[in-house]
Amino acid sequence: MKNTFYATTAIDYPNGRPHIGHAYEKIVTDSYARWNRLLGKDVYFLTGTDENGQKLIESAKDAGLDTLEFVNKNVEVFKNLCTRANISHDDFIRTTEKRHEDSCVELWKKLEEKGLIYHGHYSGNYCLSCESFYTEAQAPDGNCPEHHKPLELKEEEGFFFKLSEYQKWIIDHLKANPDFIVPGARYKEILSRLENDDLRDLAISRPSQGWGVKVPGNDNFVMYTWFDALINYYSALDSDQKEKFWPADMHVIGKDILWFHSVIWPCMLKAADLPLPKQVYVHGMVLAEDGKKMSKSLGNVVDPFEMLEKYPTDTFRYYMLKNISSSGDGKFSEQELVDKHNTELANDYGNLLMRVIKLGLKSFPDKVYTPEGVAQEIDALPYFERAKEFMDKREHNKAIDAIWDLIVSLNQYVNDKEPWKHKKDEAAFAPIAYNCFYGMAAASYMLQAFLPECTKTALEYIGSSALGTELMEFGAATYTPQPPEALFPKVELR
Ligand code: MSP
Repeated sequence: MKNTFYATTAIDYPNGRPHIGHAYEKIVTDSYARWNRLLGKDVYFLTGTDENGQKLIESAKDAGLDTLEFVNKNVEVFKNLCTRANISHDDFIRTTEKRHEDSCVELWKKLEEKGLIYHGHYSGNYCLSCESFYTEAQAPDGNCPEHHKPLELKEEEGFFFKLSEYQKWIIDHLKANPDFIVPGARYKEILSRLENDDLRDLAISRPSQGWGVKVPGNDNFVMYTWFDALINYYSALDSDQKEKFWPADMHVIGKDILWFHSVIWPCMLKAADLPLPKQVYVHGMVLAEDGKKMSKSLGNVVDPFEMLEKYPTDTFRYYMLKNISSSGDGKFSEQELVDKHNTELANDYGNLLMRVIKLGLKSFPDKVYTPEGVAQEIDALPYFERAKEFMDKREHNKAIDAIWDLIVSLNQYVNDKEPWKHKKDEAAFAPIAYNCFYGMAAASYMLQAFLPECTKTALEYIGSSALGTELMEFGAATYTPQPPEALFPKVELR
């Protein structure tokens, strides 16, 4: 069985600073990448920036900078966000890189040779913000469904991709692969749109303004930014990596760009005779606390850097992953983030760890807890199995809940066993301690996917002799506790 896992985020427009939605998508994808590494898979995790849009020319002008200079400056901030949020990506692709441009040109030529690209004229309703045409069925009121601004009638001459030829094929593909789009509601939405609306050929070039990937053999045009952007998932891999990792296992995106990923991208790949990604996972949108879309004019924007400055990275990650359902939109509340930190991370997990380790150290300093003669009273495996099932279904918040159930049951175990009563009695204390250390090690092992920083420290305090999935098996390791410091000092809303 294939033991690799290739996951991608959307590539972000670097025409401003990254916002909380960008942070959310990276954290979600990072958790899947880390989880799959924990399972022993060879993981490739790609993120990056989408730099060829014509809008960037305007944005750079407004900022008084040359386009490349403007983009370079912003991309650094996106990279910095990855560092601050502890994102474990293997690669960061910029679509102005040569590897990407070469790949786009190659794909274009291939489609052209196959007669799937032609030169023609097009007129339709266009949204400048999306850089996209909309049909009447998609925008019956004449407004952009994403930006709610009036569409403009636009006539264009240029190159077209014969997308219309793939209508039946893509419907059949979706029907044969009901997990191609997750969650199911999004799958139904796309299928119904495909069954009710004719696919039209796609305009894949724009008149050149000196910025973008040049159309091969015609310097008057650059590739439509969506056409080139989607190719990033493929162009980032060199030929050995393609061999190993392509097709991608999971593209993680927001619902606003689902059509491009679930219809246009698969059709482009099919046209180029390339294998299709296994899945498009659509996460929800992070909304402001009032339930509205964040926007500068409403003054309800939450800056991810500010949150990462004020609170521990793991706290921010935990809150985002746990409180925003994996299948729907969620509101961001700083107060809730603080509450989660203090109750779940500090009390449930952090205090339990401290209690168990300190008790062990105080009672039996330099003790190594071994499984010999210890009866198993805690079983982490069913929790692990449940977490795995939820991760496979792209329900990471429920996977965290499953791991939390183990932590809750450990707290209960400690309360029931009252190990402090046996402090001087090694025969009574050591088996309880071993069960606790095993349970804490198993829970911390699984939580590494979501909380990489504090779990690393926790596992050091637990002092386990093993560090892999064997930790899920009772009796697979010995534990030598190390003097701990509080993992989650309480925080307040500031
Ligand atoms: N450049 C395109 C993607 C090209 S992928 C080949 C783009 N960029 S974006 O910067 O506008 O958005 C990047 C990702 O962030 C998208 O998946 C988008 O859905 C996601 N989000 C944008 N706002 C968001 C929230 N408020 N909440 C969660 N995700 C959000 O689209």
